[in-house]
Amino acid sequence: MAQTGYQLAEGAAERYERINVPTMSGPAAERILEHINIGATDRVLDLACGTGIMTRLITKKYEKTGGVTGLDFNDGMLKMARSLSPKADFSIEWCQGDICDLAFGDGQYELVLCNHGLQFIPDKAAGFSEIIRVLVPGGRLAFKCLECRAGLKCRHCRFPTSPHQ
Ligand SMILES: C[S@@+](CC[C@H](N)C(=O)[O-])C[C@H]1O[C@@H](n2cnc3c(N)ncnc32)[C@H](O)[C@@H]1O
Repeated sequence: MAQTGYQLAEGAAERYERINVPTMSGPAAERILEHINIGATDRVLDLACGTGIMTRLITKKYEKTGGVTGLDFNDGMLKMARSLSPKADFSIEWCQGDICDLAFGDGQYELVLCNHGLQFIPDKAAGFSEIIRVLVPGGRLAFKCLECRAGLKCRHCRFPTSPHQ
């Protein structure tokens, strides 16, 4: 798996869910969902899903989709996402993986979402190329990014390979 420089300290997923989701990433995920419509057969891939807020919001807003897959490379975040996984009338899957090297076939998704994740991948070209590959022709990508400023210290993560260090 490619080293993206984003690693989490112990207990980070629980703190992330308790502090960051209600104040930052939850509202940001809501903004994304305000701007897109998910069709009843749309297969959705939520990249860098973290503790799974996007999927939880989708299940509140939509009774039917073609299924949602949440992907993240961090064990702790995925464990939390699974433990909070909502009930839905469509399939919800959680899988571990790297945005820059997706283990999905070509054209498997109508919609790719990514909230506050793309800023962490070092090879943006590889990431976007993978996103385009797994989307069907004419598929959609909606994302929100945080700026990773020099000197920014995140309480919940470390950037061992950050270009800013
Ligand atoms: C700030 S959190 C955002 C989580 C979630 N999207 C949300 O809105 O709460 C960033 C997430 O990106 C994940 N991540 C970073 N680089 C990744 C990569 N290359 N592939 C998959 N996930 C990655 C981290 O493990 C972390 O869970």
